[in-house]
Amino acid sequence: MTNILVCYYSKSGTTEKMAEEIARGIEESENDVSADLKQVSDVDVSKLIDYDGLILGSPTYYGLPAAEIKKLLDESITHHGKLEWVVGGAFASSANPAGGNETTVLALLESLLIHGMIIKGMPKGDHYGPVAIGDPDDRELKQCRYYGRFLADLTDRVSKWNLKK
Ligand SMILES: Cc1cc2nc3c(=O)[nH]c(=O)nc-3n(C[C@H](O)[C@H](O)[C@H](O)COP(=O)(O)O)c2cc1C
Repeated sequence: MTNILVCYYSKSGTTEKMAEEIARGIEESENDVSADLKQVSDVDVSKLIDYDGLILGSPTYYGLPAAEIKKLLDESITHHGKLEWVVGGAFASSANPAGGNETTVLALLESLLIHGMIIKGMPKGDHYGPVAIGDPDDRELKQCRYYGRFLADLTDRVSKWNLKK
C-alpha cells in the first residue's frame, strides 16, 4: 500500500485542524493510499524513508516554519539522497492574511526539493499548498481536503512508475 506521512507542528490547534483534513482527503482517495497523521514530536526521523509521500505543516513564525519542523528537516540529513522520488507537499497557518503563510509553505518545499522529492503545484485554489488564516473556515478546510486527495492520487501514480532504485 502507498503510505503518506502528514507531519505537523501545532501549538494552538490551527495547523492540526488542517493536517486532519488533509489526512481525510488522502483516505478519501479512490486509490489504495493511506495517511499517517503525526505531530512532529511523534515522528521518528529514521522512519521517513518508509513513506511514499511526505506532507509537512507548520504555523507561520516570522514568515518561516516553526523551529520544531526545521529541526526535523535538519535531522533528515541522515537520509540525504534516500528521499529522492518521494512526493512532497506543504501547508501553513498564520494569524494575518499577508502574514507569511505562503513564504512558510515555500520554505518547506525548498527543503523537500533539496531532498530530490517530487513537488507538484496546483493550478486551482491554493497554488503552492493550503494555507489558513486563524481558525480554518470552510473554504480553507475544503482546500486541505482537496490537497490530500490530489497528493494521494499523485503519490499512487508515482509509486507505479517505480522510480526508486
Ligand atoms: C513566535 C510566533 C511568531 C509568529 N509569526 C507570525 C507571522 O509572522 N505572521 C503571522 O501572520 N502570524 C504569526 N504568528 C501567528 C501564528 O502563525 C498563527 O497563530 C498560527 O495559526 C498558529 O498555529 P497553531 O494554532 O497550529 O499553533 C506567530 C506566532 C508565534 C507564536
